[in-house]
Amino acid sequence: MNMKGIVLAGGSGTRLHPMTLAASKQLLPVYDKPMVYYPLTVLMLSGIRDVLIVSTPDDLPQFRRLLGDGAQWGMRFSYAEQPRPEGIAQAFLIGDEWLAGAPCALVLGDNLIFGEHLSTAFRGAAERPDGATVFAYQVRDPERYGVALFDETGRATDIVEKPTTYISPWAVIGLYFYDARVTEFARSVKPSARGELEITDLNRLYLEEGTLQVERLGRGCAWLDAGTPDSLLQAGAFVQTIQSRQGMLVGCPEEVAYRMGYIDAEMLRMHAKRLGKTELGRLLHDLASGVHA
Ligand code: G1P
Repeated sequence: MNMKGIVLAGGSGTRLHPMTLAASKQLLPVYDKPMVYYPLTVLMLSGIRDVLIVSTPDDLPQFRRLLGDGAQWGMRFSYAEQPRPEGIAQAFLIGDEWLAGAPCALVLGDNLIFGEHLSTAFRGAAERPDGATVFAYQVRDPERYGVALFDETGRATDIVEKPTTYISPWAVIGLYFYDARVTEFARSVKPSARGELEITDLNRLYLEEGTLQVERLGRGCAWLDAGTPDSLLQAGAFVQTIQSRQGMLVGCPEEVAYRMGYIDAEMLRMHAKRLGKTELGRLLHDLASGVHA
């Protein structure tokens, strides 16, 4: 069965107040696109075409308005509510029926992941039939994340959620690939001290079974989460730098759909036209005409 994908775009974005008092964090702009485009295109690049968008009852209608049923990009989008922020792993319980026993990837709606060869790594993870695959990235502030420990052979030995003392610089990024047993595993996760079904506890179940692969991302990759004013600004500046310098698009669903062969040049031209006189529209028009191919 083909892998499905979930974008988790819930939460109240308290670290971005007042910006998020009346708007969903994952719909805030990161340079020239809504934030959710970036994680969504990561799933698309992994070869996933069925995606469930999970958000709060308040915000879900805006996501629907922005993304529709996905047909415009050759995708299939569904929507489900997470009434309260009760943890990342809860997404699999919410999506249980929709998943119907399929393997599933999950990406956090505020994570930006960019780098050469990454789509090959993601496709590999999506095609792996058994176990789970997660990715780790070296950061200066690991205490903010789930952190992976490795032995001398490079095998992950443990994952700890927000360790209070320094154990390793390797943060586990918000993109996870699981086999068909994921909902069954998610059901056995118990709420943590902060009252959430932790994704780290789900990952540990695979780790204990010996089927969790933790791949380390090297220097050539960028992983940013746009959860604070500083990281939001940094993420926007990063996208702007790459796009204006190289003329290459980051996190653009129309471009990815075209490159993956989900839409043709004519459809791409239509999207470019709809974006009007924006720089994004111009770049997509060039792509449809074979410039920057
Ligand atoms: C969550 C996960 C953590 C992961 C991080 C990535 O943290 O719990 O393991 O490293 O996302 O963005 P939270 O956003 O809940 O603080």
